Amino acid sequence: MHVPSIVKRLALGGYRRHKLLEWVYQRVHRPRPLKHYPTELNVELTTICNARCTFCTREKLMRSGARKPGHMDEALARHVLDRLLALTRHQGVGDSDVQFTPVGLGEPLHYPALFDVIAYARELWPAGEIRINTNGIALDERRARLLADSPVHTATFSLCFIDPGDHREKLGVDAHERICENIERFLRLRSDGRPAVTIHVFDLPENRARYSAFAKRWLPHFGRHDLLALPRYVPMTTRAHNGGPTCPCGQLWTTVMVDIEGYVYPCCAGVWIARDPDLCLGHIDEPFEVLLAKLEGIRQAQLRGEYGTCANCAYLYSFVTENRRTARRVRRGST
Ligand SMILES: C[S@@+](CC[C@H](N)C(=O)[O-])C[C@H]1O[C@@H](n2cnc3c(N)ncnc32)[C@H](O)[C@@H]1O
Ligand code: SF4
Ligand code: SF4
Repeated sequence: MHVPSIVKRLALGGYRRHKLLEWVYQRVHRPRPLKHYPTELNVELTTICNARCTFCTREKLMRSGARKPGHMDEALARHVLDRLLALTRHQGVGDSDVQFTPVGLGEPLHYPALFDVIAYARELWPAGEIRINTNGIALDERRARLLADSPVHTATFSLCFIDPGDHREKLGVDAHERICENIERFLRLRSDGRPAVTIHVFDLPENRARYSAFAKRWLPHFGRHDLLALPRYVPMTTRAHNGGPTCPCGQLWTTVMVDIEGYVYPCCAGVWIARDPDLCLGHIDEPFEVLLAKLEGIRQAQLRGEYGTCANCAYLYSFVTENRRTARRVRRGST
């Protein structure tokens, strides 16, 4: 068993042990090289969703009309992938450094051509890593088989809350039991432990107290690559903060996000708000030099301490340690 797997299995023991091992893992883990951008490619295939999470900006944006519910046209999705491939080649990003995720402000399992687009991504980046994030509600047997047969490396199930009552209250849908059954069925029907499963529940007090029992429930079903994750809860729905940001956003050196209309952002949060002309790099069809020049402007401004539109973004305040580490590597010119 390789070292990360051992760390992950130990972390299934209890909340404190999980956090301690997570801390150690982050310090020994070698991050992706910064010399090439972008390595994290996200494409929003849909903004349609079957949940109404109170912690997600989707519901409010849709209701206000700031973002529209809909799917990305499949032809556009393939075109976006072609352009992203050209961008990664233009930038000298190696296939094995690419991570592709069909994710945005919606539920990817609702996208009719999801597995065709994923298969196309695999053709374009044969050595890249493909991930998927889903709330798991729509993972019926047909979709579970498609996912099991797909080239996805890791399927992250955003369960978010351990207690069914908390889940119902925060996701606005009575589906906790169905999701757990869907995950269990998926774990049974995939072969060779692939795609790997990550079940994510927020690192919040209501989950901490229940974490040990939750880990015991899943351990017998898990293979060597599966794990529970305790991601930070980011107060994206409020975006208001006391004090100013202290270091640039690390995503500016790693990430690209393309929305359902083909507009490009330097971070996942770009689609979690109404289209912001200061953050949007332009349309995917614009010359790469134009998109990259806009990005460089945002990076340099943040390195000078000018955060503009990002000053209120909860991501800056929730990932200070990670952002500091990236800024240090950028300032040192380390790759
Ligand atoms: C916007 S969702 C889209 C994919 C899918 N609908 C899902 O929920 O997994 C992408 C990821 O963002 C996470 N997320 C949503 N709101 C969040 C918040 N306030 N803090 C941290 N993560 C959040 C979700 O749990 C999910 O893993
Ligand atoms: S977090 Fe995911 S499941 Fe919840 S509303 Fe947002 S897009 Fe939908
Ligand atoms: S601070 Fe927020 S909005 Fe700005 S680039 Fe980072 S994630 Fe995006």
